[in-house]
Amino acid sequence: MSKPHIRLGVNVLASGRHDAAWKTFDDKAALSTDIDHFVAIAKAAERGLLDAIFLADNPGGLVSESYTRPWRALDPAVLVSHLSAHTRHIGLVCTTTSLFGHPYTIARQIASIDHVSRGRAAWNVITSQNPPALHAYGVDKGWDQAERYERAEEFVQIVTQFWDSVPEGSVAADVERTVYLDPSRLRKLDYEGRHFRARGASSVPETPQGRPVIFQAGQSADSRAFGARYADALFTGQRVLDGARSFYSEVKGLATRYGRNPDHLLVMPGLFPILASTDEEAQRHKRRLDDLLDSVALREELARHLAVDAALLADLDAPIPYRETEANEHLVPTASRWHRKEMLKEAKANGWNIRALLFSNITGGHRIFVGTPEGFADDMLHWVDTKGADGFNLNIDVQPTGLDLIADEVIPVLQRRGRFRTAYEGQTLRDNLGLPRFEAANVSPDTTPYFARELAGAA
Ligand SMILES: Cc1cc2nc3c(=O)[nH]c(=O)nc-3n(C[C@H](O)[C@H](O)[C@H](O)COP(=O)(O)O)c2cc1C
Repeated sequence: MSKPHIRLGVNVLASGRHDAAWKTFDDKAALSTDIDHFVAIAKAAERGLLDAIFLADNPGGLVSESYTRPWRALDPAVLVSHLSAHTRHIGLVCTTTSLFGHPYTIARQIASIDHVSRGRAAWNVITSQNPPALHAYGVDKGWDQAERYERAEEFVQIVTQFWDSVPEGSVAADVERTVYLDPSRLRKLDYEGRHFRARGASSVPETPQGRPVIFQAGQSADSRAFGARYADALFTGQRVLDGARSFYSEVKGLATRYGRNPDHLLVMPGLFPILASTDEEAQRHKRRLDDLLDSVALREELARHLAVDAALLADLDAPIPYRETEANEHLVPTASRWHRKEMLKEAKANGWNIRALLFSNITGGHRIFVGTPEGFADDMLHWVDTKGADGFNLNIDVQPTGLDLIADEVIPVLQRRGRFRTAYEGQTLRDNLGLPRFEAANVSPDTTPYFARELAGAA
């Protein structure tokens, strides 16, 4: 049997994943909002035949990173609908919260993007609740873990039921009888959850993909069960292959237990390549970018992640204070624990000192690869072939220039090895990801309550 193609998306960031990327641009002030810049990134990704561009989001207010680098400013739904007009094939992943606001707004937005892009929309469901976002939405206090996932589940059930509510064939367009929309065909919902209620049918008819693709990003046991139940693809942070392999086999197993085909749940960890024509040149390129960082601020950030006093990290060539970080784990907010755990796992596996950890993408959280395009292609294939991933969500150091290297140097290597497309396979994102069109007519609405607690409890 031939080996599978690798799936590749790109995380669209205003200037790039490297925290100092913005300092390398001539026009620095407009980076968060410059639409031409985003169009250039989307076009470079499509030239590389990547599966999707991925718009992460901090829904709501500014977060701490907004004060030190360009941030995610534009509403991702508005941004991707503009980008859809400048691209023809690439998937458009739009991140929104599943905890607050109303699911109908999201159902309508994402379905509309699927229509305007002719079947390229995906919804990335997140469950974060950082205070600035909650405050912007007028919510005083977040929810505990169980309640977060109860809310998220109701949210997704309502969104998907709205997506299925005006099935193909509902538009009769019957001139003789003057019936445009046939009400007998509608699958109206009447949803009364603990947290959200909704009734009626969407204004948006069934979309080209049947349902837009669902991505999900999270890390906890609840999040894994939630993703395995509802998502088509999981975005995750995995810095060490062994951990990635356990994550992979766990979520594929959960999908099977939910009666799903595990091949229809793609696993795409984030990955941050820093590339050049030789390994030494790639290291030099990374150092040039690292030298632009404010190492004092970075050390303070690392101290916050590790929940230790910054003074403990003063000597960059000293060993990492594992004992203190472990003792202080309870001080770290739950949502940041995966990030810190992954960083420390990687540091331990590689015998890093404080300096190596400090310059290993502590703010982005994803694994860094520094080396040649050929080495990078091999590294990704090794992860795919040892069942650590189906593909990756690439975080590019400086965009769009770093993406040109992916399109011109990395993709041709993967193609020569028979592991990447040489042309887009189909029109829709589902076609290109190898996922079947969603046939709403064949499923009854999701109403299974509180999957995560049931399944996580049973595991
Ligand atoms: C790879 C990855 C990407 C994420 N992307 C976003 C994002 O763009 N915006 C956001 O607000 N939260 C994002 N999150 C946060 C998750 O949605 C979730 O809130 C977080 O993982 C904590 O929940 P958990 O402990 O249940 O996993 C991301 C998480 C992961 C692991």
